[in-house]
Amino acid sequence: MCGIVGYCGVAPASKILLEGLKRLEYRGYDSAGICVEEKSDFKVIKRKGKIKDLKEIVPDGLPGSTGIGHTRWATHGEVNDRNAHPHMDDTGKVVLVHNGIIENYQGIKKRLLDEGHTFQSDTDSEIIAHLIASLYQGDLEEAVRQTAFLLKGTYGIAVMHKDEPGTIVGIRNGSPLVLGIGEHEMFLASDVTAILSHTKQVIYLEDKELVKVTADSYKTSDFNSNEIRKTIENIGWELEQIEKGGFESFMEKEIYEQPESILRAIQGRIDRDGATAHLGGLNMTPRQLLNIKRISIVAAGTSYYAGMVGAFLLESIARIPATTELASEVRYKNPVVEPDTLYFAVSQSGETADTLYAMRELQRKGARVLGICNVVGSTIARESDGGVYIHSGPEIAVASTKAFTSQISVFYLLTLLLARMRHLSFEEGLRIVDALEKVPEMIKTILASSKHIRELARKYSRYTNFLFLGRGLNYSVAMEGALKLKEISYIHAEGYSAAEIKHGPIALINEETPSLFLVPNDKLRDKVINNMKEVKARAGKVIAVAIEGDQEVEAIADDVIWIPSSNPVVYPYLMVIPLQLFAFYTALELDRNVDQPRNLAKSVTVE
Ligand code: M6R
Repeated sequence: MCGIVGYCGVAPASKILLEGLKRLEYRGYDSAGICVEEKSDFKVIKRKGKIKDLKEIVPDGLPGSTGIGHTRWATHGEVNDRNAHPHMDDTGKVVLVHNGIIENYQGIKKRLLDEGHTFQSDTDSEIIAHLIASLYQGDLEEAVRQTAFLLKGTYGIAVMHKDEPGTIVGIRNGSPLVLGIGEHEMFLASDVTAILSHTKQVIYLEDKELVKVTADSYKTSDFNSNEIRKTIENIGWELEQIEKGGFESFMEKEIYEQPESILRAIQGRIDRDGATAHLGGLNMTPRQLLNIKRISIVAAGTSYYAGMVGAFLLESIARIPATTELASEVRYKNPVVEPDTLYFAVSQSGETADTLYAMRELQRKGARVLGICNVVGSTIARESDGGVYIHSGPEIAVASTKAFTSQISVFYLLTLLLARMRHLSFEEGLRIVDALEKVPEMIKTILASSKHIRELARKYSRYTNFLFLGRGLNYSVAMEGALKLKEISYIHAEGYSAAEIKHGPIALINEETPSLFLVPNDKLRDKVINNMKEVKARAGKVIAVAIEGDQEVEAIADDVIWIPSSNPVVYPYLMVIPLQLFAFYTALELDRNVDQPRNLAKSVTVE
């Protein structure tokens, strides 16, 4: 979604802003702009389209070493040059960029119009510039603070005033903002990737905090003007991790990174001697862990499907009743919080509004909510009552791949830990540990067979409807496979339990609707094979992801993607990789933008 970058320093600001915006591209946007302070004037350049389009209209060698930039993902007002940020007030004194949504903007705008203000855009953001300008009495920080009291909604804002050259004020309430500290230069960003090439020293603003920066100073304070001393943190990511490293796309790179990213999620956390796992960040004593009677997981999108795998593992192996719910639904259902229930909020970005708001609602009701996040220092990671980082490294492609396998890795570890405290024997625990440790190598063999999956993608890319079918642990993997296909190839795909098709979706089956079946060699294999036969009997095409050497599957399916035989408990890992590759290659066949699919944003910070 929208991205912010700000710079105060000695270098040409336009160059740094454009580079930062380029790095924020992955978040999804439809227009972009910058404002550079030039001899106590503001030069605003903004445009609908991509950063490359913006670059075309930014003059080379534009002077000025203070500025702000923005990528906009439209919410209020159509996608056009006028609605792109930065926005100015009508005196031209104040210029700002804004992430988030101002819920009461219509009332404020009406009042400002009555007072004679004129507006250039249809956005909610522009009213903030007008308010700041009208409240300004020689102190930008104070005017921003006063404005904050009038706003309802979420915002991360970077703002400049003509009378305070070389200064940017940032404010956060619900939309992330981070300060980067360099040598004689300061950065503001909504996301550390925008500034990682310049500094690793950062301060994360909390909600209801402001920061005032110049090239050589910064001051953080709260809404009541109290100065706050904040800890400087080190970004743990390397620059190479946010670059393509020889791959054509981030998505391909991230799919291929999974043997290592899974290893990062599990290594150092498995305890072979005890056939269990250590998860330091839970902030819970063994006695408290033993007293958990129920587990409830909230998440969105791919993280939701990872949560479904987690709930299945926890219930079937640790014998703790566990459910996963869509965070967006939990928030508004007035959820019942029980004292012995442990809650998890799963989010790659740690910024997803649905998940964050569900977590806050649960916490308000007294729940202990642990976070399972990738982005260190993200809002969910900071506001949760403890948790586990998945250590995937930055995930840039909008379609989540490596985060999914790392999220389920954390659930495998959690299951081991809680199950070994309960009914799981040492020997059974060790069998899971063994299987888990072999996963990265097995994934490498599947990745090595990508040529065949590419051929299948070519063969099937002309179809416009797919069913993805699995059962048990692989049911949620089928849902995830369908989500991957639809989000990057724009082909309609439904994920279902294979058992459910006879309750409705089988009506869709004909020669134009292929079904992709996940066929493990576990107790559900024969039932899934029966479902495959039902589809074949109705002239449906069948692609199967099956275990090497399964001749019965080979005889029924039109095409088979083989995966190595393993302990069935880890099949979600092995089943999802072919589905990611199938979606990826299908999207390439159809000439889609795999990293930035249309209409989607990496981090969905609005409800
Ligand atoms: O950052 P989160 O894990 O909270 O994001 C949740 C979803 O928005 C995300 O998984 C989305 O569904 C992806 N585009 C899936 O590939």
